[in-house]
Amino acid sequence: KKVVLAYSGGLDTSIILKWLQEAYGCEVVTFTADLGQGEELEPAREKAEMLGIRPENIFIEDLREEFVRDFVFPMFRANAVYEGLYLLGTSIARPLIAKRLVEIAEETGADAIAHGATGKGNDQVRFELSAYALNPDIKVIAPWREWDLTSRTKLIEWAEAHQVPVPKDKRGEAPFSVDANLLHTSSEGKVLEDPAQEAPDYVYQRTVNPEDAPDAPEYVEIEFERGDAVGINGRRMSPAELLTALNEYGGKHGVGRLDLVEGRYVGMKSRGIYETPGGTILLAAHRGIEQITLDRGAAHLKDELMPRYAELIYNGYWFSPEREMLQAAIDKSQEHVTGTVRVKLYKGSANVVGRSSPLSLYSEQHVTFEDDAGAYDQKDAAGFIKINALRLKLLAMRDRRAR
Ligand code: ARG
Ligand code: SIN
Repeated sequence: KKVVLAYSGGLDTSIILKWLQEAYGCEVVTFTADLGQGEELEPAREKAEMLGIRPENIFIEDLREEFVRDFVFPMFRANAVYEGLYLLGTSIARPLIAKRLVEIAEETGADAIAHGATGKGNDQVRFELSAYALNPDIKVIAPWREWDLTSRTKLIEWAEAHQVPVPKDKRGEAPFSVDANLLHTSSEGKVLEDPAQEAPDYVYQRTVNPEDAPDAPEYVEIEFERGDAVGINGRRMSPAELLTALNEYGGKHGVGRLDLVEGRYVGMKSRGIYETPGGTILLAAHRGIEQITLDRGAAHLKDELMPRYAELIYNGYWFSPEREMLQAAIDKSQEHVTGTVRVKLYKGSANVVGRSSPLSLYSEQHVTFEDDAGAYDQKDAAGFIKINALRLKLLAMRDRRAR
């Protein structure tokens, strides 16, 4: 029996690795991905080797470009936001990790995959729905739902009894749980569990406090082609390069901090602190370019579909026919979403202050308060209002009779 484990190299997944070898008697294949979490990956190789994983069973991959190009950018075409605020930074990464786990299982002849998400969260659902959608025969092992290592003390004791090295600073409780990638850092649990208490400043990892951000505003110009950002300040960039650069700008100006209580798919509410500096700028800019390039009918329909699309991603249905249907509609809407947006960054805010496009629908001639040289006949508006008012007048007349 062989299992592919989503392995970070950290203590928890190292214990899982050992547990799979002991409790399941499995041959373990490790998969460690660089999604832009900002950690070195080579230490994960050394740890895996130390835990007895054969070199050909260690997979370490840089997935940053694929992550941004095929997952983050399609999601941003929809302006997807969950419960009004959450930019889905963790949710959108899970399907990609699951996809690679399943592919590596197929390559190495493994019949199972394993992950370190708990039985209380969204992530288990996202990993597993994605995996089953891609391989209906795959088996999934979720140690947190199976073992009885329910306290930190038990976990550490088990590790020590089974020769898993425990770094000194990992003996105590971690102050909170973190998930990070190129799109965001999310922090949950422990010191953050009381939603009435403001999060301590040390929770924040990739943005300065807006109060300490530079006193001078800074402008960034973002270029879009067919709904995707392709350059900053006149320089073309790959998707991952571009998001990395926007993270720098946003982090420096304290953009994209969020303190949110959200409804998990499994039923309970949870409180999280999110930092999405580049994504927050990108969302504002994308809406900015859509303002002049999307027709009103298309734009409003898109905004109606968005919460449904965001919920599908949050709940783990990236690989589902309904998400793909919505994606097709959203992608169609982006055909003319091309042009440049100027965003002003200042002490935590990212505001669009300028947009231009060769395909703009904005007609100054039609909208001007000055003489429009006959572009629009104001007299036409009288009939427009009269006919639209007809039903409202009939209703008002009925109400007058009924009184
Ligand atoms: N609540 C967020 C989501 O469901 C993040 C979950 C993972 N974050 C964490 N700190 N463990 O997408
Ligand atoms: C977890 O990592 O299991 C908790 C966070 C979540 O999945 O919602």
